[in-house]
Amino acid sequence: MMAAVREHCWKRVLLLSTLISCILFLVGGVNGLYPGFYSYSCPNAESIVLETLKTFLASDPTLGGPLLRVTYHDCFVRGCDASLLLNSVGNNTAEKDAVGPNKDSIRGYEVYDGIKSALEAACPGVISCADIIQLVARDIIVLDGGPYWNVPTGRRDGRVSKASEALSNLVGPNSNYTTQKDAFAKHGLTEKDLVVLTGAHTIGRARCVTIQNRLYNFSGTGQTDPSLDASYAEKLKSKCPKGSNSSVKLDGTQFHFDTRYYKNVLVNKGLFHSDASFLTESFPKSIVELETKKHNFFADFPEAMIKMSSIGVLIHDEGEIRKNCAFVD
Ligand code: HEM
Repeated sequence: MMAAVREHCWKRVLLLSTLISCILFLVGGVNGLYPGFYSYSCPNAESIVLETLKTFLASDPTLGGPLLRVTYHDCFVRGCDASLLLNSVGNNTAEKDAVGPNKDSIRGYEVYDGIKSALEAACPGVISCADIIQLVARDIIVLDGGPYWNVPTGRRDGRVSKASEALSNLVGPNSNYTTQKDAFAKHGLTEKDLVVLTGAHTIGRARCVTIQNRLYNFSGTGQTDPSLDASYAEKLKSKCPKGSNSSVKLDGTQFHFDTRYYKNVLVNKGLFHSDASFLTESFPKSIVELETKKHNFFADFPEAMIKMSSIGVLIHDEGEIRKNCAFVD
C-alpha cells in the first residue's frame, strides 16, 4: 500500500517538474531567456550581484542613477549584449567613449568589474556581463523602494562595440516627441514603452551641461524653452549658471523610485525638453497621467524593462561569456 502511494507521489512530482521545465522552455522559447537561468549552474549568482552592488552603493549612493541608465544605453546599441562595457582598443572607439551620450556621462563601470570578479570566483565562466547589467538595474530599483520582478536571464556577451552606433541610436535631451518615438520603434518598443521606461528619470541626476541649451539658448533663440515652468526655470538657473559643471536631481528625489517624475512632467517641470515633449500629443500625455498612479507605474515599469532587456539578445552559443566585462575574451 505504502509503496503504491509513494510511486503515485513520485509520478506527480516528475510530472510537475516536467511541466515546470516545459513552461520555462516555452517562456524562454520567445527569446531564449527565462528567470532563474543560473539556478543550477550558479545558485548564488543573484545574491552575489546584490551583495556586491550594495558594497559599492554604500561608498557612493549616487551610482544608482548611472547604473540604471546603462540598461537603456546598452540595449539600444546592438541589443542587450554588454557592448557598452567594452573598452576602446587600438583605433576602435568603443560605445563607452561616444562623446555626448556616454563619455563623461555614464559612470560606475567599476561596479560591473567588481561584481564580475565576485561571480568568477564563485562560478567561473558562467554569468554574462549582459545579465549582470539587468540584475543590477532591478536591484537598484528595489533598493530605492520600487517594484521587484524576476529578471529573465541567459543573455551572452557581444564582441563588438562602436561609438558611432551609440551616437546613431541614442537620442538627446532636446529631442522632440517624434524623434523619441521613432528611436524606440526602431527597437520594437511602443509609445507606451517610451513613456513608461523614461519613468526611470525618477532616479538620479543630470549634469547641468545637458540642460544649458534649454535654459539659456533654446533652439538657438537665446531664450529659455517656453515649455518649461517659469519658476522652475529660475530655480534651475540658480543651480546651473551658464557654463556650470554642477548637476541637478532629475525629479527632486534622487533615491526614491516613485511617480514624482510624471507629476512634475504634467506641471511643466520635466527636466529635459524630451520629457516635456510627452505633453505635446494626446496619447503620450494620457500615459503620463496614468503613470502618476503608483499601481500603474509599479506594474508597467517591470513589464517594459523586461521588454527592453530582450532587445537583440545573444543566446545559446552566440557571443561569449566574458571573464572581464571590459574586454572580449
Ligand atoms: C529618449 C529617451 C531618453 C532621453 C532623451 C534621456 C536623456 C537623459 C539625459 C540627458 C540624462 C542626463 C545625463 C547626464 O547627466 O550626463 C539622463 C539621465 C538618466 N536617464 Fe535618461 N533618457 C532617456 C531615456 C531613459 C531610459 C529609457 C532610462 C532607463 C530605463 C533612463 C534612465 C536615466 C537615469 C536613471 C538617469 C540618471 C543618471 C545619473 O544619475 O547619472 N533614461 N537621461
